[in-house]
Amino acid sequence: IPGHTHQAPREVALEEIEAVLGDCHLCQLYQSRHNIVFGVGNPRARVMFIGEAPGRNEDLQGEPFVGAAGKLLDDMLAMIGLRRQEIYITNSVKCRPPKNRDPLNTEKDACAGFLRRQLMQPKILVCLGRISAAEIIRPDFKITQEHGQFFEKNGMWMTALYHPAALLRDPGKKPETFQDLKRLQAKIREVCTRT
Ligand code: URA
Repeated sequence: IPGHTHQAPREVALEEIEAVLGDCHLCQLYQSRHNIVFGVGNPRARVMFIGEAPGRNEDLQGEPFVGAAGKLLDDMLAMIGLRRQEIYITNSVKCRPPKNRDPLNTEKDACAGFLRRQLMQPKILVCLGRISAAEIIRPDFKITQEHGQFFEKNGMWMTALYHPAALLRDPGKKPETFQDLKRLQAKIREVCTRT
């Protein structure tokens, strides 16, 4: 994420940012949303997972990854001994795009400031899917070729996994993702004294 370094501890509490997000009208998505889906877990976690945008269930409940993809994400986390409470999970875009279309660049740009301020003390960013990896790691990120690789940038380690929704559509990708999760687990052990 351009301009982000996590050297100086953030002074603004995440709750305050959430309050600023309040009734956000920075892009058109406010017109159709039910809830802004900010994030869940420990804001000071060393490991952050970043998805694309809320879907229908997330929009209705105000929490990221609560639908079928979220259930699979919980299973993926459990495979490497992680629970939601000890990591932080959010999305590139905080409001649901109508009919789950891809978020527009204007929507991602409008939301980027919030994501930047959510990165309190992460050492490892895990992008879920191509859209998030393109925003966070590199615009031309190739998820099929580069999933599971680690990139060091702005004092953080970054990687991308197949999006759990993609794994539900194509379970043939699950074995590769299992390997990626094992690499993630090893990286967490290497660089985090706590999650
Ligand atoms: N897909 C995402 O990318 N994020 C969610 O919160 C739910 C589904």
